[in-house]
Formats: sequence, C-alpha cells, structure tokens
Amino acid sequence: MLPEKLSADTIAVHAGRPDRQAGAPINPPISLSSTYHAAVEGEKVAFAYAREDHESGVAFETALGALEGGHAVGFASGMAAISNALALVPHGGVVVIPPVGYSGMLAATKSLEASGRIERRVVDTTDLVALASALKGAAMLWLETPANPTLNITDLKRASELAHANGAIVVADSTFSTPVLTKPLDFGVDLAVHSVTKWIAGHSDLLLGAAITRDEQVLEKLRMGRALSGAITGPFEAWLALRGLRTMPLRVKASCASALELATRLQGAPGVASVIYPGLPGHPGHAIAKSQMSGGYGAVLSITMSGGVEAARELCERVELFTHATSVGGVESLIERRKRWSLESELVPESLVRISVGIEDVDDLWRDLFQALNRLN
Ligand SMILES: Cc1ncc(COP(=O)(O)O)c(C=O)c1O
Repeated sequence: MLPEKLSADTIAVHAGRPDRQAGAPINPPISLSSTYHAAVEGEKVAFAYAREDHESGVAFETALGALEGGHAVGFASGMAAISNALALVPHGGVVVIPPVGYSGMLAATKSLEASGRIERRVVDTTDLVALASALKGAAMLWLETPANPTLNITDLKRASELAHANGAIVVADSTFSTPVLTKPLDFGVDLAVHSVTKWIAGHSDLLLGAAITRDEQVLEKLRMGRALSGAITGPFEAWLALRGLRTMPLRVKASCASALELATRLQGAPGVASVIYPGLPGHPGHAIAKSQMSGGYGAVLSITMSGGVEAARELCERVELFTHATSVGGVESLIERRKRWSLESELVPESLVRISVGIEDVDDLWRDLFQALNRLN
C-alpha cells in the first residue's frame, strides 16, 4: 500500500509494483499465459483465464487507477474502451455528444444510431444552456476536453451536475488532459476514458485504452463487457504501457510547457491565420481550462492557415523535425492536417493543422516550424 496524499509524479513511479519482499522483482513480470491452474470448485482465485484478467494488466490498472482516483479497466485500444463505455447505454437510449471530438467516437455513435442501438443528440457541450435542454431524458452524456482537434473546453463539473440532474451517466474522454492535468472523477464525471496509446504509454509503440470509475456497478459491467467482447489488453502491451506511465508526468509537463511556448510564438507567424490553444488567454475556454487543468493546458495545439488547404498540406510536407503522421502523445512531435480523414467532424476547418508537441528542445521545434512556414508558396 502506498502512503496517502502522494503527488502524481510519485504515484506514477511507485504504483502497481509487486510487494516489497526480499528476492521479489521490483517490476511486475510480463505474464504470458492464457490460462491458470484451477482452484477447487467454488473457491475464488485471482486469475483463471487471461481474457478476464492477467497479472500484467492488473499491474497497469493499479497504477492508472491510483493516478485517476478510481478503478481502472484496461482495454485493447482507446476505441475498445469507447465502445465498451457506449455499451453501458440501454437499448434505444439517448447519448448526448459534442459536435467535435475524436472522429472514431463520432463514427461509432453514428453507426450505433444507424442500427437503432442508441439515439444521438449532438450539442455544443461548452454551451451549458443548450446542454441543459439536450439532456432531457438522456441516458449518457459524452464529453471530451480538450476536444480533438479544435481543443474546445467543457466545464466538467457543471456539465456533470446538469447530466446527473437528468439521471444521465457522464463519460469524459480525458486523453488530451492526461491523468496528470485533470482528474475527471474529482469533477463529478462517472467514467473517464483514455486512449492510453497516447501520452500515458507515450512512445508511439503500442495500442491500449482504459476506463476508470468509482462506481462498483459500472466497474463490474465494464469488466464483464471486456471479457465478452474479448477486448482485453495483451500482457506485453500492458507491461510497456506501465513502463511508459512511470515517466508520463515528466513528459506531459515538458510537452505542455513547449506547446504553450510554440502557441505563443506562432501567433502572427507567416501564413498562420489563427492559433488554437487553451493556454492562450484569448482561447474562449481559457478560464475553465485554468480551473480544471493543473500543470499545463495539454500538449496539442492547432493552427489554421491563411493559405487554406494547400498551405496546410504543404506545411506538413515542409517540416523536417516534426513527423508528418497521425496520432498524438508520443515523445516525438507530430503534425497533420486533420481533414485528410473523411470521418473528421464537419466543423473542423479544412486548413486546420494539428500539432502534438513532444519532448524535443522547444527552440529546435520552433526553428523547424518557422523555416517550414517561411518556405510556403
Ligand atoms: C481523444 C481520443 N480518444 C480516443 C482515441 C482512440 O484511441 P486508440 O487509437 O487507442 O484506439 C483517440 C485516437 O486518436 C483520441 O485522440
């Protein structure tokens, strides 16, 4: 057991380790076994079959749960966590979703609606008046803050209060906040979901997802849903993700500081029409971000280009240090024009370029962006 009231930096290093016994390893082993010796019938054992649970998964979940202040359930990917969270909605139930958010979530809810499984109600969740009326009769409120890729900030506490007043369960995709900057459960959210693939694992070398809750019934449903959908993490991925989690606070804080610096310098840079970053005082959600994020405003910033789509495409090709690739949250800085993907929200501008800031030296990153911007046609 860890002492109480530790900071995220310390929890990330110490949680999810084997007991401190002489001769025991300090890191959990990778448990490569699909099945386990059976107990006498009727007796409970920790592990029976690896599609339900395995030691490597539990070690990762213990650490992530300690960071978020709840019980974590690991999934094979962020999308598997999202799909299993949506499975909590009763047949035909209304899910209130924002118009902009991770494109996979938008597509998954659309497809569930097309088959009659759920009904979608799309509303700007940053507008609490509109949200209050959209929540009437809803079963679930889906939030994402900062939202991918337009970085809209939703007030987690007030949105959760509104949802609960209407009897709806609140889910927040907290991938862009990371467990370092915001703990959604402390703001009243019932279920936080993460693409662990991003900052938590942090090295662009695996896929993994997680859902974290304090509600025992929700926890049980998620664990059962995971076993039945076969969406558990592989032991190797869980082990690697835990290794990444150990340094997440350091990486996230460094990336956030660089993101703020780059966002500031990009304002007024050649070819840049607008800079979107919650850490800038001019961002419409800045005050709320300040109240619910601590240690930084996230490692992602977006820019729109005055030269339109062509300029956005060209920028992604002209950078030399930034990697032109999809995804976010790795140690390496990534860049891409989001509307290259057909599933992206209609509200995302065609010329929007999303930048995920890694842990390289910020001046090196700036020189790379600046040279690329200066060479645009
Ligand atoms: C905010 C957000 N949530 C969920 C996902 C899906 O995660 P995964 O790719 O691990 O399935 C992503 C992926 O980009 C994301 O950006």
